[in-house]
Amino acid sequence: MISILIIIHLIISFINLSTDAKVFMVLMEDDPLVMMSLSSSEDTAMHKERIARDHDNFIKTRLGEGSYTKLYSYTHLLNGFAIHADDDQVIHMLRGADKVRSVHEDTKMEKQTTHTPDFLGITDGAWPALGGSTVAGDEVVIGLIDTGINPFHPSFITQTSNNNILFDKNSKFKGKCITGEQFPLSACNGKIVGAQYFARAAIAAGEFNSTRHFSSPFDSDGHGSHTASTAAGNNHIQVVANNFSYGYASGMAPGARIAVYKALYPFGGYMSDVVAAVDQAVEDGVDILNLSIGPASIPSGPSAFLNVLEMELLFATKAGVLVVQAVGNGGPTPSSILSFSPWIVSVASSTTDRKYSNSLFLGNGQHLPGTGLAPPTVGGVYFPVAAAADVSERNVTVGVIESCQNADPFVRELARGKIIICTYTFDFDSEAASISAVVDTIHKIGAAGFILTMDPDLGSHQIKGSTITLPVPGIILNNMESSSALWEYYNSNTIRGRSGAAIVFRARARILDGRQASYNVQAPAVASYSSRGPDLNNALLETADVLKPTIMAPGSSIWAAWTKPNSRGDDYTKSQTFALLSGTSMATPHIAGIAALIKQKHRHWSPAAVASAMMTTADQTDHSGSPILAQGKNGLLSPATPFDFGAGSINPSKAIDPGLVFEAYFKNYVEFLCAVPGLDDKSVRRAVGVGCPDKRKEWCSDLNTASVTVSNLVGSRKVVRRVTNVGGFDEKYRVVVREPVGVRVSVEPQVFTISVNESTHITVMLQATQRTNRYTFGEMVLEGSNNHVVRVPITVFVSSYLGS
Ligand SMILES: *[C@@H]1O[C@H](CO)[C@@H](O)[C@H](O)[C@H]1NC(C)=O
Ligand SMILES: *[C@@H]1O[C@H](CO)[C@@H](O)[C@H](O)[C@H]1NC(C)=O
Ligand SMILES: *[C@@H]1O[C@H](CO)[C@@H](O)[C@H](O)[C@H]1NC(C)=O
Ligand SMILES: *[C@@H]1O[C@H](CO)[C@@H](O)[C@H](O)[C@H]1NC(C)=O
Ligand SMILES: *[C@@H]1O[C@H](CO)[C@@H](O)[C@H](O)[C@H]1NC(C)=O
Repeated sequence: MISILIIIHLIISFINLSTDAKVFMVLMEDDPLVMMSLSSSEDTAMHKERIARDHDNFIKTRLGEGSYTKLYSYTHLLNGFAIHADDDQVIHMLRGADKVRSVHEDTKMEKQTTHTPDFLGITDGAWPALGGSTVAGDEVVIGLIDTGINPFHPSFITQTSNNNILFDKNSKFKGKCITGEQFPLSACNGKIVGAQYFARAAIAAGEFNSTRHFSSPFDSDGHGSHTASTAAGNNHIQVVANNFSYGYASGMAPGARIAVYKALYPFGGYMSDVVAAVDQAVEDGVDILNLSIGPASIPSGPSAFLNVLEMELLFATKAGVLVVQAVGNGGPTPSSILSFSPWIVSVASSTTDRKYSNSLFLGNGQHLPGTGLAPPTVGGVYFPVAAAADVSERNVTVGVIESCQNADPFVRELARGKIIICTYTFDFDSEAASISAVVDTIHKIGAAGFILTMDPDLGSHQIKGSTITLPVPGIILNNMESSSALWEYYNSNTIRGRSGAAIVFRARARILDGRQASYNVQAPAVASYSSRGPDLNNALLETADVLKPTIMAPGSSIWAAWTKPNSRGDDYTKSQTFALLSGTSMATPHIAGIAALIKQKHRHWSPAAVASAMMTTADQTDHSGSPILAQGKNGLLSPATPFDFGAGSINPSKAIDPGLVFEAYFKNYVEFLCAVPGLDDKSVRRAVGVGCPDKRKEWCSDLNTASVTVSNLVGSRKVVRRVTNVGGFDEKYRVVVREPVGVRVSVEPQVFTISVNESTHITVMLQATQRTNRYTFGEMVLEGSNNHVVRVPITVFVSSYLGS
């Protein structure tokens, strides 16, 4: 009875809202739970309730009941609430309200493996060191803020006979398991230890549809399941797509636990839902937070570091949770990163050594390269080739036929048994056409296969959906040269009648097997789409003294779990259990999984220590031993810089034993904020609740990170770092420096011995010798007597060599 009343109340309150009601996040002056020193869980529960009650009273006394809907009370990391109301109401509510710290209008957010464990050397490196693959990452909980999870997928199913898999009931993690459609209680099976969903803002915006998006933690998209299995999917799960086995998939930390916080949908998501999800995840006690979203652009305001989500993530860091986030897919444009803050690990994406490609053999002996995860045409023999328009009714508009989206215009007797040439038109780009519709047409007309050529008007161009697995023979000729060569061959071998209709088809071709991977390319390389540094202070594009990206992991052509009854995409992706995807979204869960391995070995390390361990041990050379390259515009390769790959490509086996770490805590991040140009004591206090210390740090470069970045060197600058010995024994280190162009670097001391668990200071003096007017790159390497190598990238922009 009670629940029915509540539902009615909600409906009424939505009806009363005027149509221009929006969602606002209101942050209050009072402390959130994470800033209080609470001793018991009863204490915490009591305060949590009180904070929510305060919010209710605050709103009610100003607005009157029934005219608004409170969507969430944030209590753990932030003290505030999300409210659905109209502008006038909010202005009214805030008039003379001294308890309000700030108000933010909700914004929409964009959503931004078989082989990778071997590729990264985890199987014979980090896993054995941690007790084997089934326990690697054990007892570490990775919180995933994404589109939910498909709990029935083999990557997440647990074998009840395997006791390792049962979760320790005494764990500090205490997240709930919310059941619902496609999400029975048994979905929380020990591998998945918590599952919740956050949709109130999406509902208020009218975008959530429970039939398509599921009122449960179930993944209606595929994205969340894909990335969850990359981070912590079970080991050795066979990847089968269209009845073809592509090998075996495994997560980075197959023993880690997954806590699902669904706050994203096929249409994206809302910041107020995401903020609620993060608040809950940290309160539940996750160790690592993998964040699938970032702002769609650089936040406006005095600093990119001060938006609501960034602040919340700072408090998550304070609570000991490591936050990893994708840098974005805006590369190779400089300063295209969408992950800004030094307390976040921002992940760039690399290629792996695996590549799928395919070939088209023509009757004249030419071999044309292309792509497409498709089976070969049968029997190794040549088939006649026909352009779609030449085997269709002649009274239909050509543009419609050539994209092969519809079987109706085809003349079956002519099309049957031929390889059909289709064209990748503009409609594919706008998603009005799809490769799976081509597949459907080929099926229906009984053709032998298809060739998708490029439209000369569009030029060579990233093909959407080119890595979906195809159930019929097909190849995508994704460059103009191959496309033109095919058309030339076809036209000179097709005999036409007086009306222009094709009457004799002499062109012949066969399509090879596109499902076979080749492993001989130079890898890893920075993927062209991976967003690039330098980091920015604000939307005015002033660059910051922070190195971004932080680190790089594989993100191109990653096989991982997919979800079946999804609502996105097309029938063929929909019916698959695995999908091959590329993006910085695919790179990020690799880092979340590897962070779980580090956390397992070092339970008490701070987020900064884990980030430092990954950075100082990263690789700058590829598997062939040459410097890592970056894919630029038009596929051009050039040597990668820290603005492409941060500290380098993750090396998990070394990251679990880094020797030294650079520590930083909440207090240091506040000092950092106080040094950001344009931020004063008041704006810092408004954002984080504490003001600046009396003796303020002068530069953002003073933050103790495992990198030195100076965006504006005038004359000279002294940068101090503090390292802590986590190597387990006393060790003697020797400093080796490679200077950036235009800068003299001197380090004090040059040799030092550091006792186990002790810290020591290192002073790095940067002296400009030449005005470069560009960023130049160098490094400081600390070489330990017991084989630890601690590498620190140095990135400097010399504005003037004269001066202080
Ligand atoms: C929700 O989605 C279903 C299935 O796609 C559709 O039939 C229905 O019309 C949608 N409802 C709304 C309100 O859009
Ligand atoms: C899948 O392959 C197996 C063996 O290769 C075959 O028996 C089965 O019919 C195939 N299924 C489909 C749906 O093609
Ligand atoms: C095109 O011609 C075919 C047969 O010649 C006919 O069945 C069809 O209706 C025609 N379509 C249009 C759009 O006129
Ligand atoms: C992990 O983070 C990345 C990028 O930040 C995101 O794209 C991915 O979906 C996330 N995965 C999960 C399962 O949350
Ligand atoms: C160093 O710290 C670790 C972790 O706190 C501890 O287990 C170890 O005993 C310490 N070693 C020494 C020599 O103090």
